[in-house]
Amino acid sequence: MSIILGIETSCDETGVGIVSGSTVLANEVASSSLRHKPFGGVIPEIAARAHLEYLPNLLELALETAQLCIKDIDGIAVTAGPGLVTSLSVGVSAAKALGLSTGTPVYGVNHLVGHAVSAFLDDYTNDGLGVIHRRDSIGSNGIENDASSTHSHTHTTQVNRHSNLCVYTPPRRVLRDVCKYMHVRDSVVLLASGGHSCLLKIHNNKISLLGETLDDAAGEAFDKIARLMGLQYPGGPAIEMLASSGNPNAVAFPRALLTHFEEHNRYSFSFSGLKTAVGRVVERIKSNPAHSIPKIEDIAASFQEAVADVLTAKTVAAALASDVDLIVMGGGVAANNRIREMLCERAKIHGLDVKIPPIALCTDNGAMIAAAGSWLMQLGYNPSHSRFSPVSIMPLTQMVV
Ligand code: KG4
Ligand code: ZN
Repeated sequence: MSIILGIETSCDETGVGIVSGSTVLANEVASSSLRHKPFGGVIPEIAARAHLEYLPNLLELALETAQLCIKDIDGIAVTAGPGLVTSLSVGVSAAKALGLSTGTPVYGVNHLVGHAVSAFLDDYTNDGLGVIHRRDSIGSNGIENDASSTHSHTHTTQVNRHSNLCVYTPPRRVLRDVCKYMHVRDSVVLLASGGHSCLLKIHNNKISLLGETLDDAAGEAFDKIARLMGLQYPGGPAIEMLASSGNPNAVAFPRALLTHFEEHNRYSFSFSGLKTAVGRVVERIKSNPAHSIPKIEDIAASFQEAVADVLTAKTVAAALASDVDLIVMGGGVAANNRIREMLCERAKIHGLDVKIPPIALCTDNGAMIAAAGSWLMQLGYNPSHSRFSPVSIMPLTQMVV
């Protein structure tokens, strides 16, 4: 079974993962999110510099966790796009350097393919085959403090290593015998993050795009609304927290493209109208905070409910129309409990299964890119040409460059 190293640097998270078939051997992630906090969004220049700092440490840690050395790696997968081109360039350069110096083939893979197939990695917390580590601190070769995650689901000490809440490390000799092939099932995938909101279809080992957002991504809408409310970046966890004490039915915010749409927008999303509508109510509250009805918590809950309604209704409709029995959800927004709950409830009504991987595999990470590489290699794809460049806008028709 081939052992694949995955490198992810498309936005503000630096990830290095190692998989063998569908088994995760290591998944190390560091985030520069705190450095972007004062700006309310990701600053590409800052993100790129952070990738450059974090990558060598993460590579070392991933190899250590997997009990491997670089010579054991059979293939290197790196995110070639879509993403911030300055960030992508760091990962692609690192992958090429590693590939050149070790003679290992390099696959420049589509980030979205990684998200889509990460749900088919083994449930490495439950297979009982090896050791489950909880890695809560980075140790002597640590990365600086401001790399700490701000994600609510993240367990942090010095560095954002949310991938490592649980890392499955099987004994190496057993490893090659027990690893399974990547079995990617036909499904509809809802991918909702700060950079993407799209519906993908996996059919016969091919991925196609059913629809995507026409304006803001769902996570971006959470971030922008949070900023209007004076909450910190990233906005999703902050809004979810506020929403927990609010009334989701207090304000009937618009659900764009849910009931009225042209056929080609059946599976498209739009969040800019919702953002404007929420913004208006927030401004009204700000002008008279003492006597405001609805309360800011109600607005947060009503906004979250509108996003959940649109995302889940379209996903279930897409699954039914695509004749699949499995829905997969990924991206940072998959951390939202209300969205997860609504998706499961609605899918259950139609007898559809839902697979939402652990949060560490939902947000950007290296294991999902390694998984994409593992799957594409298994399907017989050729490695990328040594002169390939990052592609900031990479269509799904291009699974590998
Ligand atoms: O996948 P991700 O870590 O990075 C990319 O954007 O690719 O997703 C980050 C996004 C941010 O917009 C953040 O606000 C959102 O995911 N997010 C959430 C939650 N946690 C993170 N949105 C809603 N509810 C959450 N609990
Ligand atoms: Zn992503």
